[in-house]
Amino acid sequence: MRGVHLLSSLVVLALASFLASATDPGPLQDFCVAVNDIKTGLFVNGKFCKNPDDVVAEDFFTSGLDMPGDTSNKVGSNVTTVNVDRIPGLNTLGITLVRIDYAPYGENPPHTHPRATEILVVAEGTLEVGFVTSNPQNKLFTKILKKGDVFVFPIGLIHFQFNRGHENAVAFAGLSSQNPGVITIANAVFGSNPRINPDVLTKAFQVDKNVIDYLQKQFWVPN
Ligand SMILES: *[C@@H]1O[C@H](CO)[C@@H](O)[C@H](O)[C@H]1NC(C)=O
Repeated sequence: MRGVHLLSSLVVLALASFLASATDPGPLQDFCVAVNDIKTGLFVNGKFCKNPDDVVAEDFFTSGLDMPGDTSNKVGSNVTTVNVDRIPGLNTLGITLVRIDYAPYGENPPHTHPRATEILVVAEGTLEVGFVTSNPQNKLFTKILKKGDVFVFPIGLIHFQFNRGHENAVAFAGLSSQNPGVITIANAVFGSNPRINPDVLTKAFQVDKNVIDYLQKQFWVPN
């Protein structure tokens, strides 16, 4: 009995370490500053780690988040992402920061982060935000946020922010992954490369094929 228990513990342990390699792993050391050049790297943990002797404060630093992103695009928003690609010191630490700018009536269109929960604070303006739960409920949780208000978007769920005001709006958000990923619904469904067979989408959305043709011809802002 004890042998079986030990064996199943080992299987669980092996499975856990396998899964850890596919998700943001718990750090095995204080930090693992990402480096692209194998020759200067030491340990492998998702990315190569910079030799700790060579790590400097700059590896944990970036600047420029006081600068608004350019919102002159079709959706009227811009996400400036500070993830492991911008701060190599974030490697293995499971966190990302974004600044989101919204033109008047601009929006961050419905999207999901496959690997992160998001917590957002409004720095300027008024935002209508929301997320929708899984099937079959597909329940919408929505709220109007003012400066200083905070809202959470649970991992994997489709969510959005819309600037209701006629002034610019600004928000900052933390996300629980060094590389949260973004799937913008319209871009993935109507802007995929190559295109999804329109028959698939015509049936899925229960609309006329012309509507799908129209949507597939649009330029979807990679926000
Ligand atoms: C966001 O703003 C940056 C900096 O102004 C710009 O380089 C980038 O093209 C903008 N992205 C979109 C999707 O408009």
